Amino acid sequence: MINAQLLQLVINASNDGIVIAEREGEDNILIYVNPAFEKLTGYSADEILYQDCRFLQSGDRDQAALARIRETLENGGSCCEVLKNYRKDGTPFWNELSLSTVFNESDKQTYIVGVQKDVTVQVKALQRVAHLEAQLATTQAELQAMKTTNGQNLQAN
Ligand SMILES: Cc1cc2nc3c(=O)[nH]c(=O)nc-3n(C[C@H](O)[C@H](O)[C@H](O)COP(=O)(O)O)c2cc1C
Repeated sequence: MINAQLLQLVINASNDGIVIAEREGEDNILIYVNPAFEKLTGYSADEILYQDCRFLQSGDRDQAALARIRETLENGGSCCEVLKNYRKDGTPFWNELSLSTVFNESDKQTYIVGVQKDVTVQVKALQRVAHLEAQLATTQAELQAMKTTNGQNLQAN
């Protein structure tokens, strides 16, 4: 088994957010957040420990990924979803959240580990590609319509 101090060093050095939550009623409350999570969200551990992470959605709750996350949290297992989140200063970012449930034999408790990765650049690039593809499809349809009209005009003459 890996030395606990080394494990702590590794988690502290991670570029991605790493958090641990435990079930409390309807919520899954944070019992640990690493420095990368504090940096990513702008919240210090003291401000957000013992809260459910949904505060990061800042009221932006109409997200299909949330139903899949709820299902994983109810049934166990793991999932990876991209969510729109908001930093403490209100700036939005796209958060690729990986969740896994872990059963701890020694206290018979289930914990959930969450890994957060900022994928804003990738999501914006995909959105741009989708936008350009839509523009291209419109232009192609317009060109096709012009060709058809020109063909009809040539036949009429
Ligand atoms: C360990 C853990 C980490 C989570 N991290 C985030 C997060 O970074 N951002 C987020 O929007 N939701 C996160 N969630 C999901 C929310 O806490 C919550 O489960 C989700 O909003 C669905 O439940 P709700 O509809 O009751 O809010 C996390 C959940 C767990 C258990």
